[in-house]
Amino acid sequence: LDNGLLRTPPMGWMAWERFRCDIDCHDDPQNCISEDLFRDMADRLVEDGWKELGYEYVMIDDCWMSKLRDEQGRLQPEPSRFPGGIAKLARYIHDRGLKLGIYADMGTHTCMGLPGTTLDKIEIDAQTFASWGVDYLKFDGCYSNPLEQMLGYPLMSLALNATGRPIAYSCSWPVYVGGLPPVVNYTLMGNICNLWRNYFDIQDSWDSLQGIVDWFFNNQDDLQPAAGPGQWNDPDMLIIGNFGLSLEQSRSQMALWAIMASPLIMSNDLRNLDNGARAILQNKVAIAINQDPLGIQGRRLLQEKSRIEVYWRPLANSASALVFLSRRSDMPYLYHTSLAKLNYNPGNYGVYDVFTGSTVTGLNTTTLFTISINPSGVVMWYILPEHSKKTHTHHHLHKT
Ligand code: GLA
Repeated sequence: LDNGLLRTPPMGWMAWERFRCDIDCHDDPQNCISEDLFRDMADRLVEDGWKELGYEYVMIDDCWMSKLRDEQGRLQPEPSRFPGGIAKLARYIHDRGLKLGIYADMGTHTCMGLPGTTLDKIEIDAQTFASWGVDYLKFDGCYSNPLEQMLGYPLMSLALNATGRPIAYSCSWPVYVGGLPPVVNYTLMGNICNLWRNYFDIQDSWDSLQGIVDWFFNNQDDLQPAAGPGQWNDPDMLIIGNFGLSLEQSRSQMALWAIMASPLIMSNDLRNLDNGARAILQNKVAIAINQDPLGIQGRRLLQEKSRIEVYWRPLANSASALVFLSRRSDMPYLYHTSLAKLNYNPGNYGVYDVFTGSTVTGLNTTTLFTISINPSGVVMWYILPEHSKKTHTHHHLHKT
């Protein structure tokens, strides 16, 4: 959507995957969906270095609403859990240099059964969100049919625009109609939405993550061309820092989400994050690859019989990123290849290993090299062409 917003994929934090619809503030005050939770996360984003890396959105998901609209027909937050109201929460978040996201649903009810936004309510809901100072809307699609979705998603885009407030627009429409052409028209999606959920919800497991990765790359011919500045595919939240991923698998999610030009929207507990997860999520080169200004989504180049897969993304200034992923479960695998085999143009290249920090210079396209990839892990490279002539070559790269 050409509204000047999200020229690179959005970065921030969203409640859903980690905190779901926990509304039990009596027994679980620290984790229930309440204004305190969003204030806590805003504080962490600012104080723990996230904001300066680009993580700027604090996003409310489902279960913020009261069961009833107010007398004027407006959505309202559940008063016991949001006693200050959303406008006050938005002020808190804006005062810290952050942005606020909120959730609504094109349909009769949200996925958790709270008031939905039927066609006749689209305008008033857009106006309400703008009046509160909301900066981002996730518009889900439970409890509506394809015809209502076909009408409602473009209407909400116009209604948000008509508020005059810049509001990024995330559409869940594709998920509800199978995610693929010809049913999904990705040209239309790019015209009306800043990003869109294509596929099922991520869960806190490596299985769930692999299912998402397989679906996105098996369908890359349909999905990859749809992405670009202001319009992104959304394979769903980062689950790094939760319970389901090992450190290797966490690096794999960060690497593949960077290749996919995916939103970097964490759903974890920023108040309790171990240093391993933090280092991965705060990796500056991985973030820079994700946020590359060209905004070209990457592709899967190879699926080897050895269960090594190679992913590639072109970046600004003739740079590129490569990810070598192991789907194995035995031991680190020694993978032999060359940049020529990965379609690189003849020449010498400099390589920076994103997760180890080691570098190699003068790697000629024809040079065979060997890398060691851990089970369910990745090796991620940032690659730049070298214009000067180098004479030495490296036949092996060692992880430090
Ligand atoms: C759907 C969405 C999720 C989340 C829940 C909330 O499942 O895909 O991301 O918003 O609804 O109920």
